[in-house]
Amino acid sequence: MGATRIRPYRAEDREGVRAVCFTTGYMGDPVAWQWRDRESFADLFSGWYTDHAPESALVAVDEDDQVVGYLLGCRDTTQVTLPPRLVAHHLVRRGLLVRPGTAPVVWRTIGDLVVAATRRRLPPSQVVDDRWPAHLHIDLLPAARGDGTGRRLMTRWLDALREEGVAGCHLVTWAENDGAVAFFEAMGFRREGARQPMLGLRSPEGLRHHSQLMVQPLDGPVVS
Ligand SMILES: CC(C)(COP(=O)(O)OP(=O)(O)OC[C@H]1O[C@@H](n2cnc3c(N)ncnc32)[C@H](O)[C@@H]1OP(=O)(O)O)[C@@H](O)C(=O)NCCC(=O)NCCS
Repeated sequence: MGATRIRPYRAEDREGVRAVCFTTGYMGDPVAWQWRDRESFADLFSGWYTDHAPESALVAVDEDDQVVGYLLGCRDTTQVTLPPRLVAHHLVRRGLLVRPGTAPVVWRTIGDLVVAATRRRLPPSQVVDDRWPAHLHIDLLPAARGDGTGRRLMTRWLDALREEGVAGCHLVTWAENDGAVAFFEAMGFRREGARQPMLGLRSPEGLRHHSQLMVQPLDGPVVS
C-alpha cells in the first residue's frame, strides 16, 4: 500500500468505515465466521461514532482516498447510547435471534448474561470515570498496519484531547489481542484492573475471550 494519509472523517466515508469495522472485527481479523451480518455489527460498533460524533472521527485513507482505517472517538463517554429500538430492530425484525450466522452468539450472550447476573458479576455497559472521560476505537486494514499509521492517528487524537483540556482517555480492548495491547502501551496507555470475561464471543477453539480496560491520564508526559 502506498502512502496513507490521515484526515478528518467526512459523511462519504461512512460505508468505508463500516466495511473496515466488519473486516477487522475479530481482533483485527474478519468477524464473519461468527457474526455473518455486517449491518448490525457496524451499527453496534461504528454507527454511533459516525452518526453522532463525526467531528471526533479520523480516517486513514489510501492514494485513492479510500478508507483503510479509522480512529472513532468520543470526548464524553456518557453521551454514547445504544438505543433499545435499534437493538430490537436487529434482533427481531432482521432475525438475528434465528439466523444461523448470528443466533449462536446472541443466545450465548444471553446465557453469559444470565450466569453473570446470577453471580452478581454483570459487566458495566460503559466505563464512566472522571479521570478518563474520553474513549476511542482504532482499526486498520491489514495492508495499512505496521508503518506508523496507528501512531499518527493516536497522536492526533490525544493531542486534540490535551488541547481541549480533557482529563484522560480510556479504551477497552481484547485481552487476548497481544499486538493491540502492545500498541496501546507504546502509545502511553496502561492496563487498569483485571481482565473481564466477554459476553457471547468465543475463540475458534471455543475458549472464552476477555476484555481489558486501558487508560491514559492526559496531564502526564507526551508520547508521540
Ligand atoms: C493496533 C493497530 C491500530 C496499530 O496500528 P499500526 O499502524 O499497525 O501501528 P504503528 O505502526 O503505528 O506502531 C506504533 C507502535 O506500536 C507498537 N506496535 C504496533 N503493533 C504492534 C504489534 N502487533 N506488536 C507489538 N507492538 C506493536 C510498536 O511498538 C510500534 O512502535 P514503533 O513505532 O517503535 O515501531 C493496527 O495494527 C490494527 O488496526 N490492528 C488490528 C485491529 C486491532 O487490533 N485494533 C485494536 C482493537 S481494540
